Amino acid sequence: MENFDFYSPTEFVFGKDRENETGKYVKKHGGSKVLIHYGGGSVKRSGLLERVQASLDQEKIEYVLLGGVKPNPRSGLVYEGIEICKTEKVDFILAVGGGSTIDSAKAIAAGTIYDGDFWDFYMGKRIEKALPVGTVLTIAAAGSEGSPDSVITKEEGMFKRGASGDAIRPKFSILNPALTQTLPPFQTAAGITDIMAHLYERYLTNTKEVEVTDRLIEGLLLTMIHEGPRVIADPDNYEARANIMWAGMMAHNNSCGVGRSQDWNSHNIEHELSALYDCAHGAGLAVTLPAVFTYVMDHDVMRFAKAAVRVWGCEMDFDHPEVTAKEGIERLRRFFISIGMPKNFEELGAKEEDIPVLVKALCRGDGREGTISGFVTLNEDDCTKIYKMMI
Ligand code: NZQ
Ligand code: ZN
Repeated sequence: MENFDFYSPTEFVFGKDRENETGKYVKKHGGSKVLIHYGGGSVKRSGLLERVQASLDQEKIEYVLLGGVKPNPRSGLVYEGIEICKTEKVDFILAVGGGSTIDSAKAIAAGTIYDGDFWDFYMGKRIEKALPVGTVLTIAAAGSEGSPDSVITKEEGMFKRGASGDAIRPKFSILNPALTQTLPPFQTAAGITDIMAHLYERYLTNTKEVEVTDRLIEGLLLTMIHEGPRVIADPDNYEARANIMWAGMMAHNNSCGVGRSQDWNSHNIEHELSALYDCAHGAGLAVTLPAVFTYVMDHDVMRFAKAAVRVWGCEMDFDHPEVTAKEGIERLRRFFISIGMPKNFEELGAKEEDIPVLVKALCRGDGREGTISGFVTLNEDDCTKIYKMMI
């Protein structure tokens, strides 16, 4: 195991009706003038936004509203949010929504108290300071409610890039699984896929002897395999939603990733798909993961075979571990299809003729010099082959 620091100061407020306590938690974490940030309208339709506003009113906390965050959030609204926060002297950002809203809120939080262009953080500068952020989560997926990360798309060039720093870990996150019951089945399934991808990206490691995190990841993957189909069949199943929601947080606050090298090539490869086609991140991952895993499997066949046996219940073929490894990847692929995810470029809305554009943005855009690295280092030729495998 490698040396590590792990600092995860978010206060998680979990369970039914907990959003009615939002005001109390904003106050506890020092907010007196709040920017309430939200997406395209689901929180208005469900009545959640109104309940959150009432909770702030109850604590006599002032707020301004900024809605309109799109899935795969854009830089334009971040600039707008930063201006509002400066003019209105906002001291706390409250995200009410999914990963996109939370990521946009984090970008505003960092950008408001930074003298330069907030995009510097998405070009690799670490976020050391930000306004405090709180969240009321409405979808189990990105894990942004507990993560130190934010992913934004820059409209100019449509580059989708991530920024990081413990300063943008939420001060509190309110997780009421019942709020996810209004999700369309496709979004529920995309969330399940993303959670599983966060676990796999950490499972694919070059660090030896990391049994404790291996076992945590395997346990969470088994939970997702059990609860995913239950919630797709019965969207009002609160208990299944509760297990998925907490798994989504655990999958990405890095408790499963400490002390080990991680992959993230699949995420980088997918981010270009959701940047270009505006598809759901999870749907892009459903197509990306099996292709990447098949391509890189030979780098460490036993790691894939271990997942196949422990997570997917495959029988170990000791003479031909690559057969077991492949079977595990195939079961993962079939699982994604079974919950309603796309299986190839066509179903995702991607086009073969765009592959050179995707590869260029992936390997050459903003700060990259021809390769991406993780579990293995991939060059432009490798990435071209991987995108072709998704056709
Ligand atoms: O915008 P509204 O109207 O709210 O609708 C959203 C949106 O259309 C809808 N939705 C959310 N909760 C709902 C609901 N509809 C009905 N009922 C509810 N309860 O679902 C759609 C998707 O929302 P979004 O916030 O985009 O989903 P998700 O949480 O999957 O976030 C995806 C974004 O997170 C990034 C992705 O790249 C993508 O941009 N990621 C962020 C990470 C992080 N910050 O740590 C890590 C991830 O790997 C990921 O890259
Ligand atoms: Zn993800």
